Amino acid sequence: MDLIQTIKERRSIRAFKPEPVPKGTIEKILRLTVHAPSAINLQPWEFIVVTGEEKARLSRRLIKAYHEKQIPCGPGNVKPLPKTYGKRGAKTLALMKPFFEEMGVDPDQYINEGSCNFYGASVAILLCLDDSFPDARMVDIGIALGYLALAAHEFELGTCPIGLITAYEDEIKDLLNIPENKNAVIGVALGYPDWDVPINRFKSQRDDLEKFVRWIES
Ligand SMILES: Cc1cc2nc3c(=O)[nH]c(=O)nc-3n(C[C@H](O)[C@H](O)[C@H](O)COP(=O)(O)O)c2cc1C
Repeated sequence: MDLIQTIKERRSIRAFKPEPVPKGTIEKILRLTVHAPSAINLQPWEFIVVTGEEKARLSRRLIKAYHEKQIPCGPGNVKPLPKTYGKRGAKTLALMKPFFEEMGVDPDQYINEGSCNFYGASVAILLCLDDSFPDARMVDIGIALGYLALAAHEFELGTCPIGLITAYEDEIKDLLNIPENKNAVIGVALGYPDWDVPINRFKSQRDDLEKFVRWIES
């Protein structure tokens, strides 16, 4: 598929079919993912791929932790967000609302519990970073996340980044025996999209480019 088409078509998928993804396909996606650039080609990413009963166990543990701690999906800002950003988030949620209404679900509950369950995807991938790296290397993980999402789309698979997992990192590390010196930076739900579920028809919008760019020209 054409890269431009892939970039335009990709969206976060929030309902998956339970069918397992062949291991060979997951490997192909990850082989494409590691073509991502990284500082000094350090390739700092580590992937933990969780499938089958282990993935179900992970979801159960996360949902339990969510019910105990009630930390919801959020941008995790360290200061109050300038209004522009808050408005974008609110607008996105407002545009999602009719799809959730059609499904007869509560949006917050669907997003928070859904994120803990990787939205029913058969594969959960955790992108980890050794804690000897500075925060700047999160950039490399972010680029890998983008490559992963686009590569998966090429295989007609859906993805949803799951930032919510960072709120429950202790539980995840404990369950999956992740060493203390590895940080789980971001999770990804990977699987076959269930196109019959209305929320998967939702396509988020972007502001005009002028809002993001300042040209400095001679
Ligand atoms: C770092 C990061 C964390 C995210 N965490 C979550 C999450 O925990 N749950 C969720 O449903 N979506 C999550 N998303 C998906 C975003 O909500 C989504 O990318 C955004 O609304 C734009 O929509 P699109 O991906 O369909 O273009 C996350 C995305 C990113 C990049």
